[in-house]
Amino acid sequence: MKITRLSLLSTIIACALLLCASSSALAQTGSQTDMTGYWKFSSPTSGLDYLQLKQTGEAVSTAGRRPLTGTLHAGKLHLASGTDANATTYDAVVKGEKFPATRITHDGPWGGTDTGTLERVTSEEVHPARLPLPDLRDLPDNGLVRTPPMGWNSWNKFHDRFDDATVRGMADAMVSSGMAKAGYTYIIVDEGWSSGRDANGKITGNARFPDMKALADYVHSKGLKIGIYSSPGPQVCGGYQGSYGHEEEDAQTFADWGYDYLKYDWCSAGGIYQSTWADLEGAYQKMGEALEKTRRPIVYSLCEYGAGDVWKWGAKSGGNLWRTTGDISDSWQSMQRIGFAQLEIANNAQAGHWNDPDMLEVGNGGMTADEYRTHFSLWAMLRAPLIAGNDLRTMTDETKSILTNPEIIAIDQDLEAKPVQLLSQEGTSEVLVRPLTGSAVAIGLFNRGDKPAEISFRWDSLHLGQGLGFGGMRGPTVRDLWKHEDIPTTGDTFTATVPPHGVVMIQTTSGRRR
Ligand code: GLA
Repeated sequence: MKITRLSLLSTIIACALLLCASSSALAQTGSQTDMTGYWKFSSPTSGLDYLQLKQTGEAVSTAGRRPLTGTLHAGKLHLASGTDANATTYDAVVKGEKFPATRITHDGPWGGTDTGTLERVTSEEVHPARLPLPDLRDLPDNGLVRTPPMGWNSWNKFHDRFDDATVRGMADAMVSSGMAKAGYTYIIVDEGWSSGRDANGKITGNARFPDMKALADYVHSKGLKIGIYSSPGPQVCGGYQGSYGHEEEDAQTFADWGYDYLKYDWCSAGGIYQSTWADLEGAYQKMGEALEKTRRPIVYSLCEYGAGDVWKWGAKSGGNLWRTTGDISDSWQSMQRIGFAQLEIANNAQAGHWNDPDMLEVGNGGMTADEYRTHFSLWAMLRAPLIAGNDLRTMTDETKSILTNPEIIAIDQDLEAKPVQLLSQEGTSEVLVRPLTGSAVAIGLFNRGDKPAEISFRWDSLHLGQGLGFGGMRGPTVRDLWKHEDIPTTGDTFTATVPPHGVVMIQTTSGRRR
């Protein structure tokens, strides 16, 4: 039979019409893809988002902390976490079990549009089975960070919106700004660098971090050290790849790439393990053992927000520092609430094993210069890690002068092991003291109130040379560590007028190392 061009054309048109009609009939009868089940959103530049969707008619929703609601109408999926400007939205044309989708997040300055893939996954992928944890034991001290680590971390300023060039720029600025000379050493890449695993199971960087080894080489070429970030769970907090079930491989990969520091964040491990002391310690010990096995000196930073009194066992699992609190934010309330709550656990810090009340916000814009001086002084009195969290490339001279104040840094880095103590508290005025090497004593007069305050202490309350364990002597002058000048001491008391939310930091000059 001979088929003419015309009849072929009309056959095609007829078929197309038929298809169109049948697909719209399908959509109308509701036999389009049923979205109920687990889905994974992934993009080349962002972390994973697992969604547990439930579809009823055209209505689609998720459960969880940040529920999404929306519709699947005529094959088009639209989900949103609200109707306000801060809502996260997903849009996709649903075609089967895997299709392109767009996610728009408005997470403060870190929001953005990610074009990726939405794909159906099994519930086992979302809730992997629990793997055994090692029997608890004491890991040997790795001998690192005899004084609290100093460096820079990407999270406070950038969240996960940064890339290889940002990190290189920060290493450059660390050197050119004088921060490196002041003691800052570690450039730490927090959440946002990883993508997934290659065919051999090796963790890989995402499109913004195409070559993690080259990045480490660059940072090393500046005379600095570099840190990386992962989790004992399958994903880190924002959905990027974690180390669950791959602890040894990842530790070896980080070592092979040349990393010197690992921040290991609990995040999705909470969905697999219990938040009990035994599970926490077991999960951290597992990575501690993996790091030890690489034989590379890698500072191990535990981040589980203080759960299970980590300061009591963090060192045993190989930890060099451990977060003692939830996340800091760039506000006076957050900073002072965290900072002043650390005193009671101060004596758990020891050389090589530090309490970490979270990273610095100095220079991020949410506090006044006086508040940032309080932040920096308080962290120094606590012997906390000094991990800057601002943009070093654009910081003001004032920010730089706070972060590089050599006399405050010397308090933080002092080798004397005695912890800070609260000497007195009256209303919103607090006087903190800490013995230093060479019989000197650091004294911080903190005003947590909203008005200027006269804050005093009696010299004999320090029991210099006796009691309290202070070996210090009172000389004719004390040193003001923010004014950088010696000031005379007269009479039985020392008094200073301290600005609102501000601090006066002094050090007894007798025995002070110059
Ligand atoms: C947690 C940590 C933060 C940061 C983020 C990244 O909240 O406490 O310091 O690492 O995760 O998502």
